[in-house]
Amino acid sequence: MRVIIVKDKEEMGKRTADLIAADMKAKERITYVLGLATGGTPLPLYREFIQRNKAGELDFSTVVTFNLDEYVGLPPTHPESYRYFMDENLFNHTNINPKNTHVPDGMADDVEAFCEKYEEMIADVGGIDYQVLGIGSNGHIGFNEPGSSLGSLTRIKTLTETTRKDNARFFDNNLDEVPKYAITMGNGTILNARRVVLMAHGENKAKAVADALEGPVTAMCPASVLQLHRYATYVITKDAASQLTLETYES
Ligand code: F6R
Repeated sequence: MRVIIVKDKEEMGKRTADLIAADMKAKERITYVLGLATGGTPLPLYREFIQRNKAGELDFSTVVTFNLDEYVGLPPTHPESYRYFMDENLFNHTNINPKNTHVPDGMADDVEAFCEKYEEMIADVGGIDYQVLGIGSNGHIGFNEPGSSLGSLTRIKTLTETTRKDNARFFDNNLDEVPKYAITMGNGTILNARRVVLMAHGENKAKAVADALEGPVTAMCPASVLQLHRYATYVITKDAASQLTLETYES
């Protein structure tokens, strides 16, 4: 596991963009497949992507994306839906082909069939080259809440009270407005990606980061599953790294 400790979230975004850009350039495949996250954490990365794309340094025309998750019951036009978030914060500002962007369908009639199809779509393009992750304060990745099977694939999950409270800030702090279910790639889907980068900033993530990196591999801290991944990198700010005990990390 590679752990890079940076001073602030801007540097976190830049260092992560460097990692992904280098991998994109090294690949000789026709398409490059990115797994993407929403939330506050990846925003500095997406700002870097947009800037580099506009500067002609990073081409998204052959990039295919798959988002980790989506709330069940929110249409793509809902400002808090993850499709809306991705369009607003990344896709609309780059030369990516909108047809190549995939976010789970929170309005699917048959959620189970949709989840199976999502896995097939990822497999059909050859799998995810680089998966971008944030981490919940309870150690979740995607919406794989504590207790999620470490081998799970895309499926519907009930959100925990902690996660709904964490996310209430996006719904006028009204917990009743926060959806109760989400479709999420599984821990197993994430493990199948060729490379994974987990970003975290802020002291409120410090315990989850320490549990994930230095604790046991356990379904109670889903991010700990990354200890089993061959090419997993953490890019975290000093405050998010403040509960780590080993002294062997890069900066
Ligand atoms: C969202 C996702 C979640 C978030 C996590 C952290 O697509 O996968 O696991 O990464 O909840 O959220 P923020 O970044 O808002 O702290």
